[in-house]
Amino acid sequence: MDNLSFGTDEVGLVDMDGAGTNGVGAHGKSKAAHNPDKVVAVLGSGDYGRAISRRLVSAGYHVLIGSRDPNRSKIKALVRQTGATLTAQDAAIEEAGTVVVAVGRDHYDHLPLSLLQGKILIDVSNNTERRKGPHYRSNAEYLQGLVQDGKVVKGFNVLSAYALENGGLQGSKEVFLAGDHADAKMKVSEMVRAMGFHPVDWGSIAASRDIEDVPLRLMPSWKRPVAVVFGIFVFLWILAFFSFQICRNIQSGQWDENWKNIPLTNFNRVIAITALWTLAFCYIPGLIAAYIQLWRGTKYSRFPKWLDDWLKMRKQLGLLMLGLAGIHACVSVAYITPQTTGWVYEEPTKFQAEVVVDANTTTTNTLTIYNNEFNWRGEFFLSMGAIATCLLVVLGISSLPSVTATLSWREFTFIQSKLGWVALITAACHDVFLAWHYMFLYWGCFRTLPIGPQYALYPPFIAVIMKLPLLLPPVDNYLQKIRRGYERGSQSESNKKGNPS
Ligand SMILES: Cc1cc2nc3c(=O)[nH]c(=O)nc-3n(C[C@H](O)[C@H](O)[C@H](O)COP(=O)(O)OP(=O)(O)OC[C@H]3O[C@@H](n4cnc5c(N)ncnc54)[C@H](O)[C@@H]3O)c2cc1C
Ligand SMILES: NC(=O)c1ccc[n+]([C@@H]2O[C@H](COP(=O)([O-])OP(=O)(O)OC[C@H]3O[C@@H](n4cnc5c(N)ncnc54)[C@H](OP(=O)(O)O)[C@@H]3O)[C@@H](O)[C@H]2O)c1
Ligand code: HEM
Repeated sequence: MDNLSFGTDEVGLVDMDGAGTNGVGAHGKSKAAHNPDKVVAVLGSGDYGRAISRRLVSAGYHVLIGSRDPNRSKIKALVRQTGATLTAQDAAIEEAGTVVVAVGRDHYDHLPLSLLQGKILIDVSNNTERRKGPHYRSNAEYLQGLVQDGKVVKGFNVLSAYALENGGLQGSKEVFLAGDHADAKMKVSEMVRAMGFHPVDWGSIAASRDIEDVPLRLMPSWKRPVAVVFGIFVFLWILAFFSFQICRNIQSGQWDENWKNIPLTNFNRVIAITALWTLAFCYIPGLIAAYIQLWRGTKYSRFPKWLDDWLKMRKQLGLLMLGLAGIHACVSVAYITPQTTGWVYEEPTKFQAEVVVDANTTTTNTLTIYNNEFNWRGEFFLSMGAIATCLLVVLGISSLPSVTATLSWREFTFIQSKLGWVALITAACHDVFLAWHYMFLYWGCFRTLPIGPQYALYPPFIAVIMKLPLLLPPVDNYLQKIRRGYERGSQSESNKKGNPS
């Protein structure tokens, strides 16, 4: 908001509550009105026209809202709150060198186009759906076609009327600009800065096609990671269903075992294993990348596309994993009891009683009194789960842009890489302590297929095995050298050896 003072000093009349006092109609002309660079016409008295006008007035601009009918009392009342002056379209355009076109694309050809020639025209429009194809022209290109001598600059469309009125609190403060006229873009950039936002130049007017698509994007960087995690979940769910329900019932021949465990127990175990696998999949691509760099002896050649894509989705995989681990921890706390996970509790006490059924019959009944204390294994198992969860939360917090911005590169890498590895190993130990007594002895289905806590460890195990050689000092030093720019067999290296090639 610092930049807002830019114009306020100059105008000296701005009311920050929004009831601006430099509207000509109500209060006479402001100082800005005498500086032609500070006079802006806004075409359209709708939501966006009013929101951007209000913001411009706060930034020290003299704003004329050009309406088709400036005499409507309702519109007059609304415009009064912005501090701008309501007038006819022609009058507004004539007074200003810069015109914000805050009307929908469908109405562009109803505007007084001849008056717009030679002006800087800011196209703020958005689309309701992505329009693509060989003959597609963005709204800004369409406007430029209508006003050949105008200097169209695409901008502001990524900010909603709400964001403009509330200081850019909703979403990014970046305003993307595109246009073929450098001088016009420079003026609009100044305006953007004065309003408290950051201009980002995307290039020529053709880039307005991409800028107009920005508000329509639906989390593009999340689609693939979500699909990957969902795929892992479905695969593991089928495996668990086969293992706990189908296989058990085939073995017993009864077909009445474990069906009721599907919604909670199966779900919790599958979520837990998906989380552990996904965590390992955050670290495996970096390891593959390290081996490729060692193999090629340089960091300057491109990784295969699949690896590049995988490396780029690690943040999303990590955050999805954090969500799954959170669900697993909550569900587990809710259902862990000596009855559901007896093997992590001290032994229960069992009583056997002879029960007299009638004069001739007695039966032996067993009464179990469960022990609520964890055994050693239970203590380790749960504390490992809790520590892993805490570390993962730290990783998650550090990836928030506002937090990342406060960390040095070293601090961020320490949290993401070192603490992340500790979290992976701790979570794997949590799993090992849960099932260590049968980890290598017991097999599930038909005594051949692995059980959940066993296959949960496969990806973390692969990651650790791949990591160990990289920790050896000669390998580590060599990799560091490569990452600092050394190239095996390069010209400079040959020269150093006195061996010009
Ligand atoms: C909750 C959560 C949030 C996450 N948030 C983010 C995020 O915001 N951004 C993000 O990018 N990722 C994020 N991740 C994913 C992951 O934590 C990071 O990508 C992490 O930095 C990967 O660590 P790495 O060791 O594989 O890193 P890399 O730097 O890719 O290293 C790969 C491997 O190369 C080797 N290596 C690297 N540098 C050197 C060196 N100088 N010398 C020798 N060897 C070296 C090491 O063996 C290392 O294991 C998140 C994960 C989780 C769980
Ligand atoms: N609302 C947002 O959050 C937002 C965000 C980004 C971009 N935008 C863009 O800003 C532009 C305006 O959006 P808005 O939300 O302000 O829409 P709106 O509330 O419907 O206002 C549009 C205004 O255009 C004017 N207009 C000029 N010629 C017109 C015609 N022939 N028919 C109808 N209206 C005409 C009208 O003002 P007069 O009656 O005074 O002439 C009308 O109030 C659109 O291009 C939109 O894509 C809006
Ligand atoms: C406070 C945090 C946590 C608690 C209380 C907790 C609790 C539990 C419990 C009770 C089980 C046994 C489930 C069962 O057998 O039905 C379990 C299993 C497991 N947990 Fe956790 N956990 C926590 C955190 C984590 C984290 C962070 C991870 C990894 C990312 C994780 C991964 C696993 C795995 C892989 C299993 C084995 C699943 C199976 O039985 O096949 N847990 N956990």
